[in-house]
Amino acid sequence: VDPIEAQRLASKYDIGNVPGYLSYPAVAKWKQPISEGEVVELCRSANDAYLYLHFPYCQTLCTYCACYMKVTSSPKERYDEYISALEKELDLKLAEKPVVGEMHWGGGTPTYMDCDQIERIFRILDARVRWKPGATLSVEAYPDARTLTVEKLELLRRLGFSRISFGIESLDPKVLEAINRRHDLESIRHWVGAARALGFGVHVDLVYGLPYQTGESLRQTIESVLTVAPDRLASFLFLYTPTAIKHQSVIPRESVPDSNQRFGLYQILSETMAQRGYTRVGCDHWARESDPLVAAARNEELVYHFQGYEPLARRTFLGFGSSAISFVNDCYFQNRHDIQQYLAALAAGRLPLEERAALRLSDEDKLRHHLIMKSVMCDLRIRKSDVEARFGIRFDDHFRAELAVLKNMERDRLVEGVDEREIRVTEAGRTFIRNIARVFDQYYSSTSLRIAS
Ligand SMILES: C[S@@+](CC[C@H](N)C(=O)[O-])C[C@H]1O[C@@H](n2cnc3c(N)ncnc32)[C@H](O)[C@@H]1O
Ligand code: SF4
Repeated sequence: VDPIEAQRLASKYDIGNVPGYLSYPAVAKWKQPISEGEVVELCRSANDAYLYLHFPYCQTLCTYCACYMKVTSSPKERYDEYISALEKELDLKLAEKPVVGEMHWGGGTPTYMDCDQIERIFRILDARVRWKPGATLSVEAYPDARTLTVEKLELLRRLGFSRISFGIESLDPKVLEAINRRHDLESIRHWVGAARALGFGVHVDLVYGLPYQTGESLRQTIESVLTVAPDRLASFLFLYTPTAIKHQSVIPRESVPDSNQRFGLYQILSETMAQRGYTRVGCDHWARESDPLVAAARNEELVYHFQGYEPLARRTFLGFGSSAISFVNDCYFQNRHDIQQYLAALAAGRLPLEERAALRLSDEDKLRHHLIMKSVMCDLRIRKSDVEARFGIRFDDHFRAELAVLKNMERDRLVEGVDEREIRVTEAGRTFIRNIARVFDQYYSSTSLRIAS
């Protein structure tokens, strides 16, 4: 795309102003109540599940962070109490042992637990699920000696964890200072080397659009990170909402790249990753050709959810811990965000459910969920006949208004085949994949179907 055209597209389709589509509908739209009985019933029906455990505590506050976490200087006591609560939650929800094909520990900083705690929570889990043969276990870690040790890595590996994702975010000292993180290429080499030597698959996270980040600083970060040859790189557009996330207000607004600059950063990311031989998955994940994610993308066996892209066909997600989200039988529900409320509910023997934070997909939601989360975000194509057969609709009649908007996007070369039986996201369109997905979002404001020109 030539620079003038790129500028035009960047201002027409602001990539920072669309939902992330980690779920459909977006979390903010889940307003239904749900009873404990219904949740238990749903969890009982779960099988071949993706299990997510949330560990909310961190050693330091990274000022950019949008995760549900809490800084504590006494991880031992906090995590002991928290693990006991997790145990109760597991007992209340998993009356029958579900088959688990994949498990992820995220946070916060799960590796802030000590070895005994890591082992304890693993044993608690191990007694309550049936692992599918070849189940994949993964964990997130801050690559820093204040919370991570080689001993912890060895233990995790021994317990069966085979993938680790390191939050790197940036390697530019000015950016790192602004977001209060501490690492450099040397420490990254050390931790990635240690994980590799133990046989972990290594994933890294980068963020673009961070304070003071320039094209050059991002390019250098990527070049440096790629010297450790991660199997997968996930990039995230900086989510900056200081009104909602109070600690972000120490980051001056003027230091945060604007919409055009963000677009430029994304272009640099895409070009550099492609030049280095990584395959793009969706819009902002990259993987080495040997990574199962690449084959899954080709075979249309990807799912997109709160942990990003995964090479699996299953659609059941069981979340445990404060703020954790579950998706079972087309129903979303969420746990309490507030750790104290989470602990108090379980201490009283109740499930720690957030109030009015559930949503059962209607038939129309299911159709749109499929189009947004699977066809557009994962497969980059909509086969109208498949959708018609699956949902019993006539595509062109059902989506008349949406097709008019897509037609406009086709003129911008973001999609092709709008009048044909298969609509495809183009290479240029991948950058705007969420803008394309948004066309099918019924919960987005009614102005969303206005044809911008
Ligand atoms: C729980 S955090 C990272 C794990 C670990 N605690 C660490 O700090 O390395 C998971 C990822 O969420 C992403 N993330 C956190 N806050 C973000 C924000 N404000 N905007 C975009 N991505 C963000 C980062 O890429 C981060 O690595
Ligand atoms: S980025 Fe990681 S370590 Fe930093 S505050 Fe967020 S969860 Fe904690």
